[in-house]
Amino acid sequence: MTDNQLQNFLEIATEAALAAGSVLQSFCGKLEKIQEKGRSGDLVTEADKASEAVILEILGRHVPDHAILAEESGKLGDASSKYLWAIDPLDGTTNYAHQYPFWAVSIGLLIDGIPQIGVIYDPFHNELFRAGKGLGATCNRKPIQVSQISELRTSLLVTGFAYDRRETADNNYAEFCHLTHLTQGVRRSGSASLDLAHLAMGRSDGYWERGLAPWDVAAGVVIVSEAGGQITAYDGSAFKMNSGRILATNGRIHAELSSALLAVPPLSSWK
Ligand code: IPD
Ligand code: CA
Ligand code: CA
Ligand code: CA
Repeated sequence: MTDNQLQNFLEIATEAALAAGSVLQSFCGKLEKIQEKGRSGDLVTEADKASEAVILEILGRHVPDHAILAEESGKLGDASSKYLWAIDPLDGTTNYAHQYPFWAVSIGLLIDGIPQIGVIYDPFHNELFRAGKGLGATCNRKPIQVSQISELRTSLLVTGFAYDRRETADNNYAEFCHLTHLTQGVRRSGSASLDLAHLAMGRSDGYWERGLAPWDVAAGVVIVSEAGGQITAYDGSAFKMNSGRILATNGRIHAELSSALLAVPPLSSWK
């Protein structure tokens, strides 16, 4: 894959993300259909669907022979293609439905299973995060870098809680309490892709979460890596897109955060 080819895919992803972002802005505050997708709290709106339709239309025009994995439509296109677009048309649907301004469009491209292009667009704050493997990471076309914080004690972390949190003991609550005590704070902002984009900007120092889908993180992992960050499984082993778990940091606190996540005391000890 040449840099020119990657740059071309980056421009296609950007065109789709910007178009989807305008669709989302046009629906914001005017939603008529907010539904639950089976689980309590797992929302989908007409804006998620309209945003996804625009992205699919643009990809269909530019790269009709590529495979697609989109949150609301599932798998589309040629499954044998080495190109897979992972699309979250609205990451942060709960925030969006409540007009809490932390949501984004996230579009990642995996080539032979490796995330190589990432575009995350936050229309409300007019921030466009982009990266291509080996091309660097930018916000609004200016280069970005992860933070310099080098110890957990002075770090700010971000996490999230999956929609199955009511049905599983593995719900990240104990981890949240443990890390809240060890750091300057842990935030739960409600958009995994923006959590990764902000980590890449140096606005937080580390992020972990379980229960994620490839469309939540495909774009963000490219942006964080290209901004100098580190992405692994909780135990520091290689990150797997389908595992649902991610540990992403500025690199400097990675080993310490990984150790802390592997030694979480039970929730009962916080009483
Ligand atoms: C969700 C958000 C949230 C994360 C959930 C995701 P959605 O995506 O990224 O931050 O905690 O696990 O499913 O449903 O708003 O696209
Ligand atoms: Ca969703
Ligand atoms: Ca999502
Ligand atoms: Ca979504």
